Amino acid sequence: MPVDANRMDRPALAPRSYGIFGPEALPGLDRLHGRVVERILGGLAELKGPEAVTALGGDLGRLHHVLDVEDVGPLRDWVIESLRGDLLALAVQVGRRALGWTHDFHVDDYLILRINFPYALARYAKASAENPGIGRVSPAVRPIAAARRVKDPVYDPNAYHRNHPPPAWAHGPHLDSWTGHSRDGFNIWWAIGDVPPEAGMVLYPQLTDAPLACDRRSLYLAAGHLLPPPTFAPLAAGEMLVFDPEILHGTHLNVTDRTRVAISLRLNTARPTFDPASFYAREFWRTAGDIEAGHLDRILHLKREDHLAFDAPDPVRVPTLRAAIAPTRVDGALVWITLDQPLAPGERMAVALDDDRRLMLVRAQDGLRALDGACPHYGLDLMDGGVEAGRLYCPGCAIGFDMATGRSSCADLVLRTYGVRETADGVVIALNEAGPIAPR
Ligand SMILES: [Fe+2]
Repeated sequence: MPVDANRMDRPALAPRSYGIFGPEALPGLDRLHGRVVERILGGLAELKGPEAVTALGGDLGRLHHVLDVEDVGPLRDWVIESLRGDLLALAVQVGRRALGWTHDFHVDDYLILRINFPYALARYAKASAENPGIGRVSPAVRPIAAARRVKDPVYDPNAYHRNHPPPAWAHGPHLDSWTGHSRDGFNIWWAIGDVPPEAGMVLYPQLTDAPLACDRRSLYLAAGHLLPPPTFAPLAAGEMLVFDPEILHGTHLNVTDRTRVAISLRLNTARPTFDPASFYAREFWRTAGDIEAGHLDRILHLKREDHLAFDAPDPVRVPTLRAAIAPTRVDGALVWITLDQPLAPGERMAVALDDDRRLMLVRAQDGLRALDGACPHYGLDLMDGGVEAGRLYCPGCAIGFDMATGRSSCADLVLRTYGVRETADGVVIALNEAGPIAPR
């Protein structure tokens, strides 16, 4: 669990750390939270009529019952534009109080209101629907931002997301510098509605400062890294996670039956610089001093080419995928595998079948298991995912699968399990059975 900064003796966060802050640490947070909710309800009334607000009953988790996925973008714009000054002032307050920054620092002009519908619904949105992770810079600089937009020939998010529509996307593990952000920043991820573990941020702090390779097609962690189990960051409505985005992090696919609502803000301790390997950069910034002085008309345009980091990190070699073993023989639905020695507790092994399928053998606490080797969501290799307390976590969307049943908390996402039995010199897997199989 993350540090509860409200209970820390010294609330200032150091680089490469994170904490949770609530109204006790940030005076006025409750009031601004109330105003954000008010604006969401006002926008809902504007878009869908006052009866939609009545039907919602003040429960933001039910937004998907009264709002269409196409209206998420207009609602976001309605809320962000009317509260931009207050949100920027909140970011400055976090810098001063949570991070202990007394100097003049930078605040990103790009603000995001993230309205993520449940996956079970979002997966049926139109392919043209907008990604709820998209934010907005101030209207005054939007034409410049549009003219500066570049298209990278390698980046192909649709391939990673297996043609899911953008409202159903979840962020795989990444460092923000891979996606065009400065390496000396902090992110604010503010829960507007309650955020349960299975719809919120996930962090992998154990890998901080480890050599991690970016897959330039997805801008997420390249396959082949072995992840620890995710660290979840559940938040009550109004609380915020403040974290250094150079800690490997992603978002849990929203597998709950509730809409998740959060706001993202970003700070940088110094003038931001960008990783030369990233084609994209967040170029529009404000200073804390300008915001505090009420100069909301001042926006800095930090052109990417003029602000490249001169200490760009060495590229990290993409790890090779863990090799899969081939069956010794396949006899109908029975797959026979010879092993030099039995799997040790916690050990995993990938098995490649002829038809491109990969299975996974794992010595779980309560016995040997045979499971599909790919996550049923995006097909990522589960050999990379963390294991803890009988659960196997997807290395992309962080869903936890019960290794005994294959079930996750999402009825649509079940990992197939197979019958398995140890033999004198290995194991046999029964593809048409589930659970342990009897000796024969
Ligand atoms: Fe991020």
